[in-house]
Amino acid sequence: MYDVIIVGSGGAGLTAALSAKQEGKEVLVITKTLVTHSQTCQAQGGINAVLYENEDSIEQHINDTYKASLNLASKQNIKYLCEHAKDAIIWLNKIGVPFSRDENNQISQRKFGGTKMLRTCYSSDYTGLKILQTLYDKCLNEKVEFLEEHILLDLIMDEYKISCAGVTILDIKSSELKDIHAKSIILATGGYAGIYSNKTTNSTSNTADGLAIAYKNKVELSNMEFVQFHPTTLKHTNILISESARGEGGFLLDCNKERFIDELTTRDKVSRAIYKKQSDNNDVYLDLRHLGSQKIKEIMPQERDLAKEFSNILIEEEILPIEPASHYSMGGIKVDINGQTNIKNLYALGECAQANIHGANRLGGNSLLELIVMGKTVGAYAAKNHIKCEYQIKSNIEDLNVQINTLLTNDNCLNFYEDKNRLADMLFSKVGLFRSKDSLYQALDQVRKLRDNIDNIGINDKSKVYNKNLIDYIEYKNTLDIAKVTILSAIHRKESRGSHFRVDYENTDEELNLITTIKLNDGIDCVYYEDIK
Ligand code: FUM
Repeated sequence: MYDVIIVGSGGAGLTAALSAKQEGKEVLVITKTLVTHSQTCQAQGGINAVLYENEDSIEQHINDTYKASLNLASKQNIKYLCEHAKDAIIWLNKIGVPFSRDENNQISQRKFGGTKMLRTCYSSDYTGLKILQTLYDKCLNEKVEFLEEHILLDLIMDEYKISCAGVTILDIKSSELKDIHAKSIILATGGYAGIYSNKTTNSTSNTADGLAIAYKNKVELSNMEFVQFHPTTLKHTNILISESARGEGGFLLDCNKERFIDELTTRDKVSRAIYKKQSDNNDVYLDLRHLGSQKIKEIMPQERDLAKEFSNILIEEEILPIEPASHYSMGGIKVDINGQTNIKNLYALGECAQANIHGANRLGGNSLLELIVMGKTVGAYAAKNHIKCEYQIKSNIEDLNVQINTLLTNDNCLNFYEDKNRLADMLFSKVGLFRSKDSLYQALDQVRKLRDNIDNIGINDKSKVYNKNLIDYIEYKNTLDIAKVTILSAIHRKESRGSHFRVDYENTDEELNLITTIKLNDGIDCVYYEDIK
């Protein structure tokens, strides 16, 4: 039995692992990919912290974060995040993250949206990748154990679903199922913006597995209607063009090559403005030419190369056609500031968690920050706190084995890849930047139909070795379950706020300064409002 199991090997999972290890505990990190393939490696732009109190201040960081949340976050939790930001950067710097530096050898900072301050620390346009690689090195030094290429199938719970005692996982290499027990279990499995899989900045492995499995085990999810759409991805490629491009002075141009919005207002507003133009068949472009070749090569070498490779555009000479895409999920597993869920010994962290920090809209640069600050807090807390379970522990491994074997022997081969594609397009158009009661109910109806199909679907590949078809099926099922929960939450919130824009309720309702919680009760999805704690 381990002291702490962490599912997910992104920045959050690895920071929590180091933090738990520091408490002298036996720690195992489980990941369905290879460690350094986690979504964190795609975060480009940077990580926020007030390092030098000249013009900026921690108070200002708190205010900007709270303003972006549109009254839907806990000021206390935001204060915790912002007050620990500088220490997080100092720690990352100490363990070896190669932050970009200015001529005085101080860590450089750039501007991001939602603030006028230079507050975002960065490592060229590879910030997440550099952080992840450094954390992994440190984990290897500290002898954290890893189990790669294992996907989460279920939580091991007591018979009343009051506490958690471990996880059931599937070995992708062999299709073998395994139970792993631990005193504390931390889910750091990433967000659900990847359910919009045709237009997303998320990695293909972001399929909401942790959230779907938590939900079916009566874990409360919260604010699921809030999904952030990033304004600038390279058109038709899903390649993120970081907000830092606008932070460094890039312009957004309409089809007449004129600027039409403050490029550094919050992402929801910029994305909606772009989407509206594109709905009228007008292309929108990002213009970086005036930044000059030298600066572009220095601050965004990765994006420059990607634009050339995927669109044959040289960004110092040409304008880039861009479009918005789903980027980040503000909603997730409902947790307190220690990452505690409503289930004993079960914690959640990072993008799969909803810790009342981002509310209706997240500031760019605050997500990498949350991974580190909360990773340290939750890792230590989970290591030190374990409540003995009074009831019988029950694993579903045998039932799951039967289900997997049925899939591997049934000859039914309905093509769920087509359904998955339909789901992604439908979610973007009906549960995307603009929503209405009608579009949401249509989406719900379609998701329910697709979900009804799923139990009749078999898979074509019957092999047990690296069966990608089987993994795709498991992931698609998780995606569908979380799509439903997202839609139900969006139907419930009858107002517009931040990333959730209802064309049938365009205003924000001050009576609804409340979080949405959704929970499975006796097989029924129950959605309700709760106070922000
Ligand atoms: O645009 C970006 O670089 C994204 C950063 C973030 O979401 O924090």
